[in-house]
Amino acid sequence: TDGSALDLKSFIRDIPDFPKPGILFRDITPLLASPPAFKESIRRLCEPFADSKVDAIVAAEARGFIFAAPMAVQLGAAFVPVRKPGKLPFDTHSFHYELEYGSDTLEIHVDGLKSGQRVLVVDDLLATGGTVGACCRLIERTGATVVGCAFAIELVALGGVKTLAPYSSFSLLKY
Ligand code: PRP
Ligand code: HPA
Repeated sequence: TDGSALDLKSFIRDIPDFPKPGILFRDITPLLASPPAFKESIRRLCEPFADSKVDAIVAAEARGFIFAAPMAVQLGAAFVPVRKPGKLPFDTHSFHYELEYGSDTLEIHVDGLKSGQRVLVVDDLLATGGTVGACCRLIERTGATVVGCAFAIELVALGGVKTLAPYSSFSLLKY
């Protein structure tokens, strides 16, 4: 099953005015619903990190988990969840941040990562960079090292790549 010729952008559906007027929402559900397109997305997302010695993948709920979990399996890395407040059962580090449609707090287990571990941060979509920026701050608190950030979709005009610098960002599909 060679999906290298697949046009993955053709599996992204544009929804105008969701969740608010003026926002053109990039809907990943048609891509997730296509086994060859989803499989090829995971393959292409992992390719740049094959030699990066990734120990763990960190992702924020909910949509981040969708790409991060299969990438962790493919790269032979741990999967470490970042969640909204009150969801993780053990002791947590907590970080408050601003995002495109408001503000939020995210948490990670204090023992989810070990000092010195090499971590790849994954999300479905990069907009302002607030969510993944918060994940990077949480990772730093554990003493682990962020080796990069990977996204299925980047909304280029929102400037998230600059916000995340000096961490490097890789995006599969740019709009
Ligand atoms: C969306 C998306 C990213 C984030 C991108 O998540 O899945 O995580 O926004 O925006 P940013 O770069 O400006 O932070 P959302 O907060 O809608 O939550 P969900 O995954 O639970 O749908
Ligand atoms: N599309 C999809 N998901 C998003 C967007 C968007 O424009 N902004 C933040 N999350």
